Amino acid sequence: MKVLVLGGAGYIGGVTSDVLSINHEVTVYDNLLYEDRYFKRLNFVNGDIRDTKKVVNSAEGCDVVVLLAALVGDGACAVNPGLTEEINFLAVKNICEQLPKEKKIIFMSTASVYGANEELVDEIGPTKPLSIYASTKLRAEKYVLERGGVVFRLGTVFGVGDQYSRIRSDLVVNTLTIKAFVENKIVVNGGNQYRPLISVRDVAYYLAEACESPAFGLFNLAYKNATISSIADDIFLVFPNVEIKRTDILFEDERNYKVNTQKARNTFSYTPIYSVLSEIKNMAMLLYGGRIKNPNSVVYNNGMYLSNMRI
Ligand SMILES: NC(=O)c1ccc[n+]([C@@H]2O[C@H](COP(=O)([O-])OP(=O)(O)OC[C@H]3O[C@@H](n4cnc5c(N)ncnc54)[C@H](O)[C@@H]3O)[C@@H](O)[C@H]2O)c1
Repeated sequence: MKVLVLGGAGYIGGVTSDVLSINHEVTVYDNLLYEDRYFKRLNFVNGDIRDTKKVVNSAEGCDVVVLLAALVGDGACAVNPGLTEEINFLAVKNICEQLPKEKKIIFMSTASVYGANEELVDEIGPTKPLSIYASTKLRAEKYVLERGGVVFRLGTVFGVGDQYSRIRSDLVVNTLTIKAFVENKIVVNGGNQYRPLISVRDVAYYLAEACESPAFGLFNLAYKNATISSIADDIFLVFPNVEIKRTDILFEDERNYKVNTQKARNTFSYTPIYSVLSEIKNMAMLLYGGRIKNPNSVVYNNGMYLSNMRI
């Protein structure tokens, strides 16, 4: 198959394009918001997803369009809500309306659409987006579903994807790992809040199967629902000298949710395999190996980087 990966230069896009290129012809389309160059030896188009005509032209001959490009994260989206609306909602709507119907769209949404919820939520459970990020993603989902596409509501991603792509430091497991390495101390706020988590490589393998599968519709994706406190326990196993301070203040925001992933498990043969502990170890190897020279750099943090850029 031929696959166009919109946002293929990002954290998830990097490993996804590697996995897809094993069996398919891949073109990456990205505006390189966080990078100066695109290094990989794959077909590459430097473009903005708001340029619908360019997206549609780039998709010519493609069977599947994987839609990852977005402003990602609550902090990043709050920097410029108008721009977030254009990229995360309007661009997706336009692509869904103008891309020939025979092309399959696979869209990455977020489990943040569930907001704060004590119950285990499945795909028909109530949504309660608490940020512009979650609300733009939720509204965009509808257009992908209407044309028979696949929507994945992803848990918070963690771990190392590939050797080239920028890791993100603004995701809970990665944040705590980097803090443990840099400061030898982590503060765990609101440790009992739940988050669904999934490794970046598991996401890529699900995406690869979804390209080939006749499945369509909405799917929650997670490896497990974990408390912030349990992530700190795993960090301690890898960084035994780290000081862990636990407080009752809520972690970062009030999101607290657990997702039911049975539908994805029944539909796809792939099952997530990369644990939080194994990926903390992988990140520790990158950090101790000096492959991330300055883990505190804002380039790894979408929100801080975009505020500095004054987008
Ligand atoms: N990482 C997570 O925890 C997580 C969780 C849930 C959902 N998702 C979804 O997965 C997708 C990928 O996330 P990620 O973690 O790889 O984020 P990322 O920020 O690393 O990657 C986003 C990519 O999109 C590109 N991009 C941004 N705006 C663009 C535009 N207007 N035109 C073209 N390209 C543009 C960026 O240059 C970047 O390469 C997003 O849609 C996100 O909402 C991610």
